Amino acid sequence: MKSRIFVLTIIGFLIPYCAALERDKKAVQSCYECSNIADPSQCTRVVTCRANEVCYTEAHSTSSIFQSTVYSLGCRASTLCDAISHGGGVVGRKRNVRQLNTHCNSCCRTNNCNRNLCGATGHTGPTVSTSSSTYVRLLGGSHAYEGRVEVFHGGIWGSICDDNWGGHEAQVVCGMLGYSRSGSGGAQGGLFGAAPTYAKIFMDEVNCTGTEASIDLCHFNGWGVHDCGHDEDAGVICNSASTEDNIIFLLDTGLGGVIFRMDLNTQSYVPIPMNSLYTPTAFDYDPTDGRIYFVDYRLRQLMSVHFSGTDVRELKQLDANADLEKIQVDPINRKLFYADTGNNLIGSINLDGTGYRVVVNQSLDEPRDLALVPATQTIYWTDWGTSPKIEKASYDGSNRQTLASTGLKWPNGLAYDYEENRLYFVDAGTHKIEAMQPDGSSRSVILTDSSAHFFAVSPYHQYLYYTDWNQHTVMRVNKDGSGKTNIGPTGFRQLADIRVHKYGYGMPGVVTPSPIVVDESHIFVRLVGRGDHNEGLVEVYINGEWGTICDDMWDDREAKVVCEMLGFGKTNAKAVSRAYYGTDNSIIIFLDDVNCTGEESHIAQCTKIGDWGLHNCDHREDAGVNCTFDVTTIRDFVLVADSYIQEIYRMDLETGSYSAIPQYSVNTPIGIDYDPLTHTVFYSDVGLHLIKSTDLDGNNEKILKRLNSVAIPDGLVIDVQNRLIFYSDTGNDVIVKMNMDGTGVVNVTNTNLDEPRAVTLDVANQVIYWTDWGAHPKIEKSNYDGSNRQTLIDSGLKFPNGLVYDGTTNKLYLCDAGTNKIEVMDTNGQNRQLIFQDAGAHFFGIDVDSQYIYVSDWTKDGVIRLNKDGSGETPVGPPSFGKLNGISLYHQGG
Ligand SMILES: *[C@@H]1O[C@H](CO)[C@@H](O)[C@H](O)[C@H]1NC(C)=O
Ligand SMILES: *[C@@H]1O[C@H](CO)[C@@H](O)[C@H](O)[C@H]1NC(C)=O
Ligand SMILES: *[C@@H]1O[C@H](CO)[C@@H](O)[C@H](O)[C@H]1NC(C)=O
Ligand SMILES: *[C@@H]1O[C@H](CO)[C@@H](O)[C@H](O)[C@H]1NC(C)=O
Ligand SMILES: *[C@@H]1O[C@H](CO)[C@@H](O)[C@H](O)[C@H]1NC(C)=O
Repeated sequence: MKSRIFVLTIIGFLIPYCAALERDKKAVQSCYECSNIADPSQCTRVVTCRANEVCYTEAHSTSSIFQSTVYSLGCRASTLCDAISHGGGVVGRKRNVRQLNTHCNSCCRTNNCNRNLCGATGHTGPTVSTSSSTYVRLLGGSHAYEGRVEVFHGGIWGSICDDNWGGHEAQVVCGMLGYSRSGSGGAQGGLFGAAPTYAKIFMDEVNCTGTEASIDLCHFNGWGVHDCGHDEDAGVICNSASTEDNIIFLLDTGLGGVIFRMDLNTQSYVPIPMNSLYTPTAFDYDPTDGRIYFVDYRLRQLMSVHFSGTDVRELKQLDANADLEKIQVDPINRKLFYADTGNNLIGSINLDGTGYRVVVNQSLDEPRDLALVPATQTIYWTDWGTSPKIEKASYDGSNRQTLASTGLKWPNGLAYDYEENRLYFVDAGTHKIEAMQPDGSSRSVILTDSSAHFFAVSPYHQYLYYTDWNQHTVMRVNKDGSGKTNIGPTGFRQLADIRVHKYGYGMPGVVTPSPIVVDESHIFVRLVGRGDHNEGLVEVYINGEWGTICDDMWDDREAKVVCEMLGFGKTNAKAVSRAYYGTDNSIIIFLDDVNCTGEESHIAQCTKIGDWGLHNCDHREDAGVNCTFDVTTIRDFVLVADSYIQEIYRMDLETGSYSAIPQYSVNTPIGIDYDPLTHTVFYSDVGLHLIKSTDLDGNNEKILKRLNSVAIPDGLVIDVQNRLIFYSDTGNDVIVKMNMDGTGVVNVTNTNLDEPRAVTLDVANQVIYWTDWGAHPKIEKSNYDGSNRQTLIDSGLKFPNGLVYDGTTNKLYLCDAGTNKIEVMDTNGQNRQLIFQDAGAHFFGIDVDSQYIYVSDWTKDGVIRLNKDGSGETPVGPPSFGKLNGISLYHQGG
C-alpha cells in the first residue's frame, strides 16, 4: 500500500502506564511495523527497535471518525509514554497473542509488542487495567444495567454481531462494566435497537468462557470480520444486584447533559438513561441512598434520580433568576448545597426536599463549585467573579473566611480530600491544579498545563481525577503532579463534573447500604401468547427485562410453582413445552434447567442467580403452563386496565405476577371494578365507547352499554350491594347510574360538569364522589340520585385523576397527575393533607384496602403501594406496563 493522503487526527492515544516505561527502557523490543493500514491485525512485518525505543500503535481518522480509520505501528522513542502497553488501543496479531498469558511488561521485553495481550493479571484496585485498550459501553437500554454493546477498538466504537452471543459473552461485558458477572443475559439483535448504519461491526462469532477480563480475549472472527447487519447487534442485561462500587460518575454537558457510570478499573461505561425532559448540568452522588442529585440549569430545578436512571424526583423548583452552578451532597447531615450565580447565593436544602435556606447571599459574584466537611459542618466554595476567591463558612453562613484571593482566575473545580484533609482546586484561567490546607495555608501548585481548560476535580488515593474541556477523555494526575494521563476511551465532549466513588474511600462516617439483592420480590412471571387466562407461554421478569424459560427439565413440578405465583394454585398444574403457546424471538431466554420440587412458592427458589441468562436453547423450546382456574380458590389480586398495551390484567397481590384477562376486543380500557358475588369484571373502554363485563377468566365477554361516538367513559365503579354501575363520561359531560345488566340508565347529573373523571362510592350512605379536571378542577359529591350536590374542594388541583372513598377510615384519597400529589381529606373536604408527592410521577388510578393505598403511575409503568400516611412507597409487580389507568383491589375477606 503506497502513499495515501491522510488528514491525521489522532483519535486513540492512551498513555496509561508511564511507570512501566522506566522499567522497560533498556529492553530491546521487536514490534510489528506497518503504516496506514486498515487492519492492524493483518500487519506481518516485524522490526527490532533500537535501544530506548518502544513499540507504538496509533489510530488515525481520514476525515470523519466513523468513515475510515487507519493505523500505524512501529518503534518510537521511548520518551513518549504512549508507546508502551498498547498505545492507541491496538493489538498486534490477535491469534498469536491469545496463548500468551504473560504480563504486559515482560511480554514487551521478550515478544513482539503492539499487542493487546495484557490481561488484568495481578491487577486489582485502582490502577488502570493494562488490558483496557478495548472498552465497552451500553447504549439504548431503559436503565443502567442493559443495552446494546459497543466496543471501542482502535479509537472508534463499533458493534458486536449476535451470532453465538449468549450468557457467557454477556458475563464478560457485564464484568468489564463493573457489574456482577453472574446473572448476566445476552440479548440478540433488536432488543436494544441497532447501531447507526455507518458504525462498524467489529466482532462476530464471539465465544467466551465468561471469565475473560476483556471481550477481546474471547475467541472471535477477528476485528471487523463478520457476515452480519446491524439488525443483529448484540446486547446484554446485567445483574442489577451488582454492588455499586469502583465507579467514576461523569457528566458531559457537551453531549446534552448525560451522566455516565464508568468502571474505575476498565473505563468501560454506560450512560444513565434518564427522561429526556432533564438536562443535568452538575451532580453529586449519595452512596447511602444510591441516588444522584443534580441541577437542571434550564428548568432551574434541584432534582434527584436513582443511579439506575429510574425514579426521577424534584427537590425544589427555583425562581426565574436562578442560574445554577454545581452542587454538593452531605450524606451524613442529609443536606445538599448549591451555588446560584443568578441570585448570587449559596443555598441548602435537606435531601427530602424540606428545610430550604439561603446560606450565603452577601458579597458573592460568581460562586461555582463547593466542597463540604460534614463533621465540622463547613462549606467551601470558589468564586470566579471579578475578584476570584475561595472561601469557607459554617453551614449556617457564619464564620465566613477567605482562604485564597490571589493567583486565581476561573477556579472552576474544588474538592475536599478526606484522606489528607486538604483542598484541591482547578483553575481554567491560570491553567493550574493546586492544593492547600483547609485554612488556606501551604498552598502549592500540583500541575500547570497551559493547554488545559480545567473544570472539575475528584481526589482518589494517590490520584486526582479531573476534567479538561480541551480533552475528550477523563484525565488523571498523581497528587505529586507526575503521571498526567488521559484515561479510557475518547469521545466525550465537555466533561463538566466528575466523582470517583468507592466504598470505604471518601467522606468518613458515610454508612453504605448493603448491596441491592435481586430477590423474589423483584422477579415476576406472566402468561403471554396464545391461551386462556390460565394458560400460556411463561415469561419471567429479571433485572428489568422479560425473558422466556427453556423447557429442558420443564415438567409439572415447575408448572405448580408458576401457577401458584399467578394466584391459580398448584392443583392440576400442567407443564407445556416446545413453544406450544407461541414465542417472541426478540426477547432473551432467561432460565434453563429450572429444577423445582413443586413445593416452592417462587420460581427463584428453583434456580441459581448465577445461572440466569445461561442456556443452550432456542425459542422453539420455550416453556408454558396450563393452570387450573377455580374462581373460588383464586388468591387476592388487583385488576388493572392498560390502555397502551390494550389489555386488562389480574395481578396476584402476593407475587406481583400476572395474566391478561383475554377479551375478544379491548381498545382503551380505563375504569375497572370487580363484583365478587358473580366473579364479574366491569370495565369501560373509551376507544370503543363501551361499558363491558367479563368473567374473571375472560369468558362471557358482554357489552352492557354502547355509548355514542363522543362518549369518553373514564371512571367506573360498582355498588355490589345495590347491584349498580356508575360511570363518568367526559365527552357527554354526564355521570350515569345503571343496573349491572345495563338496564335502568339514569343520569346522576349532567349539569356543571366539565371533565368528570374518577367516581367512587360510599355505599352505606349512597353517596357518590367524583373528580373534575376541567378548567376549574374540583371534587364534588352528591347522593346517588344527584341531590345534595356539593363541591368539596376546588383549589390546589390540576388533573385529579384518581379518587377513592375509604370505608375503613371514612376518608377520601386523591391522586393528581398535575400536582403530582396524593392527598387525603374528610368526606366534607376538610382536613385536607398532603401525604405523598413525586415530581416524576403521573398518577392515574387509586384504590385502598384496610392497610394500604395502591396507585397506578404512567411514568413508573406500574403500580405502587403506600401506607395510609404516605410512607413506605413500594412497587407492586414489575414496572413494565404501558399506561395503567383504573385499578381495583380484591381481597377474599372483602
Ligand atoms: C466455543 O469454545 C468452546 C471451547 O473452546 C468450544 O467447545 C465451542 O464449540 C465453541 N463454540 C462455538 C459456537 O464456536
Ligand atoms: C439574604 O438572605 C436573607 C435571609 O434569607 C434575606 O433576609 C436577605 O434579604 C437576603 N439579602 C439579599 C441581598 O438578598
Ligand atoms: C434437581 O434437584 C434435586 C434436589 O432438589 C436433585 O436431587 C436433582 O439431582 C436435581 N436435578 C438435576 C437434573 O439437577
Ligand atoms: C389445558 O388443560 C385443560 C384442562 O385440563 C385441557 O382441556 C387443555 O387441553 C389443556 N391445554 C393444553 C395445551 O394442554
Ligand atoms: C343524560 O345526560 C345526557 C347528556 O347531557 C343527555 O343527552 C341525556 O338526554 C340525559 N338522559 C336523561 C335520561 O336525562
